[in-house]
Amino acid sequence: MPIHLLDVNYARSQFPALKTGFIYGDNAGGSQVAVNVADRIYEYLLNSNAQFGADYSVSMESTRRVMVEAPEAAMKLFNAHSPDEIVFGASSTINLENLARGMEDDIQAADEFILTGEHEANAGPWKRLAARRGAVVKYWTPTPTSPNNPYSLNYKVEELLPLITSKTRILAFAACSNILGTILPVKDIVHAARDTAKEKGSKKLEISLDCVAYAPHRLIDVRDWDVNFCVFSFYKVYGPHISALYVRMSSLKESISAITHHFLKVHQKSYKLQPGGPGYELVYGTTGVLPYLFSLTPENDLKASFDAIAAHEQKLVQPLLAYLTAPEQIERGVRIVGAEAPGITRVPTISFIVVGEKVTKSSDIVKVFDKKGGIGIRFGHFYAYSLVKELEPRIDVDDGVVRISLVHYNTAKEVERIIEILTEALA
Ligand SMILES: Cc1ncc(COP(=O)(O)O)c(C=O)c1O
Repeated sequence: MPIHLLDVNYARSQFPALKTGFIYGDNAGGSQVAVNVADRIYEYLLNSNAQFGADYSVSMESTRRVMVEAPEAAMKLFNAHSPDEIVFGASSTINLENLARGMEDDIQAADEFILTGEHEANAGPWKRLAARRGAVVKYWTPTPTSPNNPYSLNYKVEELLPLITSKTRILAFAACSNILGTILPVKDIVHAARDTAKEKGSKKLEISLDCVAYAPHRLIDVRDWDVNFCVFSFYKVYGPHISALYVRMSSLKESISAITHHFLKVHQKSYKLQPGGPGYELVYGTTGVLPYLFSLTPENDLKASFDAIAAHEQKLVQPLLAYLTAPEQIERGVRIVGAEAPGITRVPTISFIVVGEKVTKSSDIVKVFDKKGGIGIRFGHFYAYSLVKELEPRIDVDDGVVRISLVHYNTAKEVERIIEILTEALA
């Protein structure tokens, strides 16, 4: 199938927030909301705002929207088997915490968890579960990809496999880091990890994949990847502030105990992990994301839309990386944190620091942008605290990195403006 060119003007027209001309460069923090998502939230609140589960007409409509339409739409975004595998929660952080709590009875002392020290959302819940149950935590750490840049970090499967033993029970990592911006070959990693675990005699390995920084840029496929758990946040994928968690049905049945009220008949459904109702209007609002994505290409096919998004995003990645890795910037002390080369596995989440003789704080660079106005980028550790802390002592974890994070509705012209301001900030 040929890759369609993304019609960026059309895409932008679906986001009223972009009409002001403000340059949104902090999308990995949160994207703008597509108009039909906002319309659905408004429509739900005004026309079907009733407690679901009753037999009167408005309640039945609410039930259909929240309990049927929304999980079915999220199921498509994950490529899950069943809407019963979808859990809604206020955030990916709380969804993963709830997941870890639901697994409490299935974890034994001396089980081993392998985690990446990235966003704390897919590390903290497992660390706390390990502490409660006496399990052992090991870290899969990223290493440089370029000999000249110690910060050009990426995760390599050959550094994961030796960590796997007969006791490995959980592997938790991210499909794409919210700092490093490189997409990992999830399918290959999972395949190699499962093979190694089997060879070593592991009886049960479950894999938790954080797709929060991945989902705005590429297609998720939990079936093809063979993961047990997968999470993303709709507020980074053009939707409202709510998260969806995929839990494979076999894990839901065999590994998870309900964390809901004891009298609720949750059976094997995902409500086992949904204590209390998530914001109904937001759950219904998520159903607007799928039609927006479909509308980007004529095929009505998610893969075609994400191919068009990926192709457009390369046009944003290339000039930014070329600028930041040019000899004058290297001389100035600019170092990319993450892979330096553009390519299809690189998303437009670009982080850097400035080291050397003219070391410059990340906050000072961002200040230049804030002073100009009309543009939003950010500095810090972005909750990937352990990852950024590893960059010390050369940088301070709270000052962290400068992060410019773009998505498909950003334009090449906006990148030109970013480069203009960067040139001033680095002078
Ligand atoms: C990679 C990654 N994982 C998890 C999260 C947490 O998501 P939420 O804010 O929905 O808890 C974030 C948020 O920035 C993230 O970037």
